[in-house]
Amino acid sequence: MADTWESLRQDCMQCRGCGLAETRTHVVFGVGATDAEILLVGEGPGQHEDEEGVPFVGKAGQLLDDMLEIIGLDRTKVYIANIVKCRPPQNRDPLNVEQEACIGWLRRQTALLRPKIIICLGRIAAKVIIKEDFRITAEHGQWFQRGGVQMTAIYHPAALLRDVSKRPETFQDLKSIQAKVRELCGHTDI
Ligand code: URA
Repeated sequence: MADTWESLRQDCMQCRGCGLAETRTHVVFGVGATDAEILLVGEGPGQHEDEEGVPFVGKAGQLLDDMLEIIGLDRTKVYIANIVKCRPPQNRDPLNVEQEACIGWLRRQTALLRPKIIICLGRIAAKVIIKEDFRITAEHGQWFQRGGVQMTAIYHPAALLRDVSKRPETFQDLKSIQAKVRELCGHTDI
């Protein structure tokens, strides 16, 4: 049977495909407009996201909202998801085996959404979505095309909280995203 957002969400909520199911409080499925033309992908939920079941609600999430606002976007105009849907303990990087167990959910979300633009938030998402040998310091802000979808990666908001010297480059990357949205996205008036 064809996927619908509701059936996909219900299946995902019951997932026990890897060890993270043992320690999670909530599955963090995703948030935003299910007809958005722009998909943002983070790495995995942290403590606050695990508690609330919503992506990017902690400090990094507040910064992400500010970054979106700079270019005239907000959570009603994009869809936000993660590579892994359950919190890795102590916020460690998700293991390869966890990423592999989880990636099917993001694939199905992407198939339903059919975004024009994918923005990877940080190195881990860029490695999974753009290319395995992605180097965030050298390649952030560059555009890649995969199957007719334009993709880029920017520094993860948590990295920008730790290291403010990366913010000017990220501002340039956000301006490039704004230009791409204006070029490609009819529905998004920014
Ligand atoms: N960091 C992420 O990569 N995803 C979240 O949802 C929150 C913090």
